[in-house]
Amino acid sequence: MKVSIGHPDAMPPGLRRLSYGIFCWLNRHIIVLRGVGALVRLWPFVGRWLGVAARASAVKKVLTRPRSFSNTSHQPNLVSGDYLIGMDPGPTYDADRALVDARLACLDVEVDANCEARSRLAKLRQTGGKAPFDLIDDYLMWIVFRAIQRVFGDAAEKVAVGAEGDLHDQSLQRQYLLEIRYVAGQLIAGSSSTLGIQRRAEVCAASLRARMEGVSHDIRKAWDVSAPSAVIERNAVGLAWISHPVTVQSGALVVQELLSRPKVYRVLRSKAAKLGEPGVWEDDGFRKCVRDHVLELMRFRPIFPLLARDVPRDTEFETGGRSNAQCRAGGKVTILSIAALFDPRAVPDSSRFCPQRNWGDEERLRYLMFGYGDRQCPAMNHAVEIMTSALIGLLILPELRLARDDGKPIMYDGPLMSRMRLRFA
Ligand code: HEM
Repeated sequence: MKVSIGHPDAMPPGLRRLSYGIFCWLNRHIIVLRGVGALVRLWPFVGRWLGVAARASAVKKVLTRPRSFSNTSHQPNLVSGDYLIGMDPGPTYDADRALVDARLACLDVEVDANCEARSRLAKLRQTGGKAPFDLIDDYLMWIVFRAIQRVFGDAAEKVAVGAEGDLHDQSLQRQYLLEIRYVAGQLIAGSSSTLGIQRRAEVCAASLRARMEGVSHDIRKAWDVSAPSAVIERNAVGLAWISHPVTVQSGALVVQELLSRPKVYRVLRSKAAKLGEPGVWEDDGFRKCVRDHVLELMRFRPIFPLLARDVPRDTEFETGGRSNAQCRAGGKVTILSIAALFDPRAVPDSSRFCPQRNWGDEERLRYLMFGYGDRQCPAMNHAVEIMTSALIGLLILPELRLARDDGKPIMYDGPLMSRMRLRFA
C-alpha cells in the first residue's frame, strides 16, 4: 500500500535499494512516521503541497470518495493478477465483493482460532519453555491458517497442499503460507522493492496461480457457484494472499507493541491468571477487554500506516486547513492513516494508550487500520477476533520476553517481520 515514488524502474539499482531500505526502516520505526504525520497534521499547507491527507477529517473525506480517489493505486502491486482491492466500483467489483462476503459468512473464526490456539499452547508447554519459540512460525501462522481456511470450504486442505499433495503434509502447507506471504509483501512494499524481491514475489505469484488452477474444480464445488474458471481462480488467488499474511503480521505487531508496555502486559496477565483455564476462553468480559487492547495496540502499530489513491480526474480535497489541496488527473494522493489515528481533534487524549477510550461519534475511526468507508476491509471483525484468540492464548502462558540468546529476536524480510523469537521469562 505504498506511495509510488515517481518511476522506480528508471532508478539506478543503488538508489532503488536505498529507497527500499528507507521505506522498510520507516515501517519498522513507526514512531518516526507518526512524527511526520503530526507535522503534516499541524501544518495542512504541507499536505496541500505534497498531496497528503493527514487530519482525521481529511482522511475520512478522501476515503469516502472512491470515484475521485481510486483504489486502482494498488494495481501495479497486485503481482498475482487483478483483485477486488485494486478495482473501481462496477459489476466485476460487485460480484467479487458478494463472493467474499458470502465466504466470510461461512467462517466461525472465534471457535476455530480458540481451538488452534489451545492446541498450539499445549505444544509450547510440552517443551516446558526451555527452548525459545517463534511467535510467527510456531504460533500465529497456524492460528490464522485454521481460522481462515474455511473460506475455501471443503477445498481448504487441497488448496494448501496443491492438487497432488498429501493432505496432512505440514511442509507443503508451510510452503503455501510462504508463497502467499511474498505475494502480499509486494502489496506493502510496492514498486520500490528491489528487483530480487520483485522476482521472488513474481515466482510465488505464478506458483499460487498454478496451484489454484489445479484445484479450481474443487473450489467451484465447495463454493457452489457456476462462475467461469477465470473468476473462481481470480477470487481464490486474491482471497489466499489478502487474508492470511496481513493478519499474521498484524498479530506479530500487536504482540511486539504489548511487550514494549510491561505494565499493560502485567495487568492483562494477572486478569488471565485469575480466570485460569478454561475461564479465559469463556469469559465474555475478558474477551472484550483483550479485544479492546488488540485495537489499541494496532492503533500504535498499524500494518498499513498509509494508503495511496489514484486521481482519475482533476479534483481537490479538504486538508482541514484554510485551502483545499488541488489534485491533478493522473496523479496520486497519500492518506496518512497513522496521523489521523492520533489526531487530537477526533481522538480524545490521542497519544495515551487507552483501550477503554470512549470514541463517541468517532467509533468508525477506531477501525481506520482497516481502511474506511465502502472500501474498508470486509474481514476486519474476523481479523480482530483471530488476534484476540491468539493474544488470550499468550496471556495464560508464563511471562514471555524476547529471546536474545540466539542472535536478534526479531528478524525482518523487507517490511515484513519474518521471525519473533520468544522465551518464557
Ligand atoms: C489484521 C488483518 C487485516 C488488516 C490490517 C487488513 C487491512 C485492510 C485494509 C487497510 C484494507 C483497505 C485498503 C484500502 O482501502 O486501500 C483492506 C481491504 C481488504 N481486505 Fe483486509 N485486512 C486484514 C485482514 C483481512 C482478511 C483476513 C481478509 C479475508 C478475506 C481481508 C480481505 C480484504 C479485502 C477483500 C479487501 C478489499 C475490500 C474492497 O476493496 O472492497 N482482509 N484490508
